[in-house]
Amino acid sequence: MAKVDDTSRLDTEEDLQSLIFHARDELAQQFKDHAWDPQKSYENLAQIVENRFGFQFDLSLHSVHWLLFSALSQVGIQGPILEIGTHRGEATRLLSELFPETKITTIDLPGDDPGDLKDIDMAQQIEREHFVAARERNLDHPNIRFVECNSFYLPDLGLPPAGLIWVDGDHHYPQVAWDISNALRQLLPGGYLFCDDIEFGPRDDEMFTNVAGGQIVTHLRDHLGYEVSLFPKRLNAVSLLNGRQKCKYVAMIRNDSRGSKAQAP
Ligand SMILES: C[S@@+](CC[C@H](N)C(=O)[O-])C[C@H]1O[C@@H](n2cnc3c(N)ncnc32)[C@H](O)[C@@H]1O
Repeated sequence: MAKVDDTSRLDTEEDLQSLIFHARDELAQQFKDHAWDPQKSYENLAQIVENRFGFQFDLSLHSVHWLLFSALSQVGIQGPILEIGTHRGEATRLLSELFPETKITTIDLPGDDPGDLKDIDMAQQIEREHFVAARERNLDHPNIRFVECNSFYLPDLGLPPAGLIWVDGDHHYPQVAWDISNALRQLLPGGYLFCDDIEFGPRDDEMFTNVAGGQIVTHLRDHLGYEVSLFPKRLNAVSLLNGRQKCKYVAMIRNDSRGSKAQAP
C-alpha cells in the first residue's frame, strides 16, 4: 500500500482509489489522535455547507481546513478567532456558522493598497466591485469584524489573544514569516494556529510557490521545539500522487506543544 508521502507513481484506477482510501484512513486517524470525531466533524460541516453555501463538501475538491474548523467547533475553543487574509470572506462566514457565539476578526489589505490596485483596468475594476460586494455579504454577521490592514501591523491592532488563528494571507517571504510569528504570539495558551498552503518542494523550482511556509514550520518544529501537525489539503489523486515534495498541507501548531527549546529566555 502506498503511503501519502510516497513519490512512486501509481498507474491503475484501482491503485488510485486505494491511495485515496488510504489517505482518508490516515486523515481519520490524525483526527482521532487529536481526540476529534472525524464522522461527526464531517456531518456537521456537510450540513452547514449545504445550508449556507448550497453545495456538497467534498474532500477531494475542497480544503481540509473547513473540516478541521468543524472538528474544533465540536470540542470547543477558548477566546476569539482571528483570520489573516479575508479574501472573499468564505472561510470567515463558515467560521461564524461553526462558532456562532465567538467574535471573529478578519484582516486583509486595504482597498488602496498599491499591490492591490496596480495596473488595474476597467474590467478588473468591475470584477473588483463584484468581489467586494460578495465579501460584504459574507462578512455581514454581528460577530464578524473586518479590519483593512496590512498584517505587518497586526501587533499594533490591540486585539485580544485568540483561541483559533487562521493564517492565510500572502504565502511568500517575508509576509508568511511575520504572519506566523505574530500569530503565535497572539494565541491564547492552548490555542490553535492553522496555516494554509504549506509546501516542501525545493526552493529553486518555480512550481513550488509556497515553500516559505514549509521552511518556517520545519524550523519551528526542528529548532524551536513546536509540535506541528500536517494535514494533506485535498484528498484527490492529483494531490496525493505528487507526494510530499509537491503536496500542499494545512499545518496546525499549538502553542502549548512547545518543548523546552521553544521557551523564551
Ligand atoms: C488565499 S486568500 C485568503 C482566503 C480566505 N482566508 C479563505 O479561506 O477563504 C489571501 C488573502 O490574503 C490577503 N493578503 C495578502 N497579503 C496580505 C497582508 N500583508 N496583509 C493582509 N492581508 C493580506 C490577500 O489580499 C488575499 O485576500
